[in-house]
Amino acid sequence: WKMDELEIAGRVEFDQPYNWKVLADNFMEAYHHFAIHPETFEPNYPAAISRAEETNAPWAALRMPHKDGALSETLFQPLDGIPDGARRGFSVFNVYPSMLLAVLADSVIWYRMEIDSVDRFKLTIYLLVHPQALDVPDAEALKTFLREGAYAVHMEDIAACDGVQRGLMSGSARAGRLSHLEGAIHEHQKWLMAELARP
Ligand SMILES: [Fe+2]
Repeated sequence: WKMDELEIAGRVEFDQPYNWKVLADNFMEAYHHFAIHPETFEPNYPAAISRAEETNAPWAALRMPHKDGALSETLFQPLDGIPDGARRGFSVFNVYPSMLLAVLADSVIWYRMEIDSVDRFKLTIYLLVHPQALDVPDAEALKTFLREGAYAVHMEDIAACDGVQRGLMSGSARAGRLSHLEGAIHEHQKWLMAELARP
């Protein structure tokens, strides 16, 4: 993806009044697509066919294939050399603890969390595109479209994260089993347990 060559094509900032790990958990499962993103993600990237990897590494990975194995729609030029499979969906990564990346065929979206306290962080969503990928007509309009799309998707997630935070703070929340669609969250929890057990 030549990540070291990517340029910032846009950014969106939010002041978030909930625990940063609520967003890390949200970001790393597609289970919520059918309920939270019924129009933005579920039609093409349905929850049911998402796949978490067993990484056993300091990072988690979740694959979200396009339904029917179709090519994902792109705004910009997909980079040369990107494997065919990566063009038929997208992937998200959590580099522990708090770096979140969505990797698409034509761009990378970085959720940067600057953690202020247990219930507040600053989120900056960086939209990263390779200069070669920007070699398309109306690149500026597409950047605006991407920024507005990122904003709209995150607004959908904010509603869910606010609700999770309220639940966690209610005093009635109990831990439960994770779904098989939440394997990437389990990977994070395994890593966290190991870190907490270290002298
Ligand atoms: Fe979401």
